[in-house]
Amino acid sequence: MKAVVYTRYGPPDVLRFTDVDTPAPKDDEVLVKVHAVSLNGSDWETLRGKPLYSRISGPFQPRHHILGSDIAGRVEAAGRDATLFQPGDEVFADILSHMGGFAEYVCVPESALARMPAGMTYEEAAALPQAGAIALQGIRDKGQVQPGQRVLINGAGGGSGMYAVQLAKLYGAEVTGVDHAEKLEFMRSLGADHVVDYTREDFTRTGCTYDMILDLAAHRSAFAYPGSLMPGGRYLYVGGSAATLLQVLLIGPLIGGAQRKKIRLLAVRLGAKHLAPIIELCQAGKIVTVIDRRYRLSEVPEALRYLGEGRAKGKVVVIVE
Ligand SMILES: NC(=O)c1ccc[n+]([C@@H]2O[C@H](COP(=O)([O-])OP(=O)(O)OC[C@H]3O[C@@H](n4cnc5c(N)ncnc54)[C@H](OP(=O)(O)O)[C@@H]3O)[C@@H](O)[C@H]2O)c1
Repeated sequence: MKAVVYTRYGPPDVLRFTDVDTPAPKDDEVLVKVHAVSLNGSDWETLRGKPLYSRISGPFQPRHHILGSDIAGRVEAAGRDATLFQPGDEVFADILSHMGGFAEYVCVPESALARMPAGMTYEEAAALPQAGAIALQGIRDKGQVQPGQRVLINGAGGGSGMYAVQLAKLYGAEVTGVDHAEKLEFMRSLGADHVVDYTREDFTRTGCTYDMILDLAAHRSAFAYPGSLMPGGRYLYVGGSAATLLQVLLIGPLIGGAQRKKIRLLAVRLGAKHLAPIIELCQAGKIVTVIDRRYRLSEVPEALRYLGEGRAKGKVVVIVE
């Protein structure tokens, strides 16, 4: 089969579009013919090996040689103990733990797969898993956003931000989106009430305070955040620098102070089966998936470069012919 392969961390030039053996499913796995795979910030990070947490499964060289985690496609074959799906079933999944989606076929543990939601195209289903899970758990489950609350989403112009802004608006929040200048209009189009260009203004120094901050691009000291939270407010780290992550884990619980401010990591439960509420909203047309660009499998290096250079507004999807 054709796949996009890499064996060392680096820029998109280290990727090769080449022939590899088609994988065979283990007993509990299903072989999926990939029709669409969406790009996430985590693909870019695991390509580069930066931040350090992206090397968790391979400190010196990548353990998995094919990136791509959010897939949608059709079941081709199933292992002996995988009985839930039949050849021909349309399925989707987030396979972040072992990746492999930038290929014509990928083996997926049956437990990670879900049936494609009715009425969704392959590209919409591939766009949803990781970004949708981050948004749903960040805004609803852990963020517990309530009507009238002030919510700030840092990195709101990317894949997860696109869903998070729309969800926070649906839950009745007043939303501030932070990203760079070219994405301000895009964030407004998603429903953001206020927008901040991070290259011109530091949201932690404006004097504004929020009930919830969802940080998809955290690069500050953990001490910078409590001052931007209302009493009882919560800050959730999703991705960003490893130094900020360490601080949030080690000192976050200590710096909330008497005002009960919470500085925490959002450890997202990944898996298509956790997505039911956001799928319903998509099917009802209350949340839209914005696909900025589509690429072919052979164009994955260009697609990743486009994402990594910060040009993507919403999602970038690779269509596997
Ligand atoms: N916690 C968990 O369990 C978990 C699970 C899965 C993924 N993640 C993480 O989730 C993060 C977000 O993923 P994603 O797919 O939404 O990424 P994405 O699509 O690349 O979006 C990130 C956005 O942040 C913007 N940005 C970059 N630097 C910024 C800064 N200093 N201030 C404000 N905005 C900035 C980017 O724009 P520009 O680059 O143009 O500036 C981009 O629009 C990744 O770091 C990933 O590792 C976490």
